Amino acid sequence: MSKKLIENTEEKIFIRQMQLNDLTDVATIERSVQLIPWSKQKFLDCLHADYYCYVLCCDKKTSGYAILSTVLDEAEMLIIAIDKQFQGQGLGRYLLQYIVNVCQQKEITQLLLEVAETNSQAINFYEQFGFQQYHIRKKYYKTKDEDVDALLMRYYLADFLE
Ligand SMILES: CC(C)(COP(=O)(O)OP(=O)(O)OC[C@H]1O[C@@H](n2cnc3c(N)ncnc32)[C@H](O)[C@@H]1OP(=O)(O)O)[C@@H](O)C(=O)NCCC(=O)NCCS
Repeated sequence: MSKKLIENTEEKIFIRQMQLNDLTDVATIERSVQLIPWSKQKFLDCLHADYYCYVLCCDKKTSGYAILSTVLDEAEMLIIAIDKQFQGQGLGRYLLQYIVNVCQQKEITQLLLEVAETNSQAINFYEQFGFQQYHIRKKYYKTKDEDVDALLMRYYLADFLE
């Protein structure tokens, strides 16, 4: 997999807080990459809920996003995605590492997420990063064709377990 983008133009790649005027771009990417896309309203709700909402920009173009919610020392990554045209170039890992760094600053001990068991790309992505599966929620995602199980995955932030 080419890492050209992240290695050669890192100075043009940055992550910042999501703003209201990002939501059209974010919802457009969302519709093109997710099995069950979130609506623009759902992203708006996350902004209003004061979740940690970030966008990743590539040459100032919105190219990815991630949303984190925290309760005490636990965090849940509610969503992460990279625009299709930028996938496979290290940006997802860069954004996920940023999320983990945010968690470390907040003394979070574990980062949780759920992913469709049919989403082998994302499962591989999470496993490669160090997430481990700890539970299955049967028939959790309802698509028009089938019910899909959710894998619940966890990443321990080791510094706080020692
Ligand atoms: C999952 C996702 C965020 C990964 O982002 P990305 O920028 O494409 O991933 P990266 O380029 O940083 O890849 C990091 C690692 O993930 C794995 N990976 C990424 N794409 C993969 C693919 N198509 N197939 C298998 N493994 C893949 C690899 O292990 C890769 O490491 P490597 O390049 O050293 O082999 C992105 O593919 C995406 O947005 N998918 C659609 C939305 C989604 O499913 N989100 C997760 C559920 S909410």
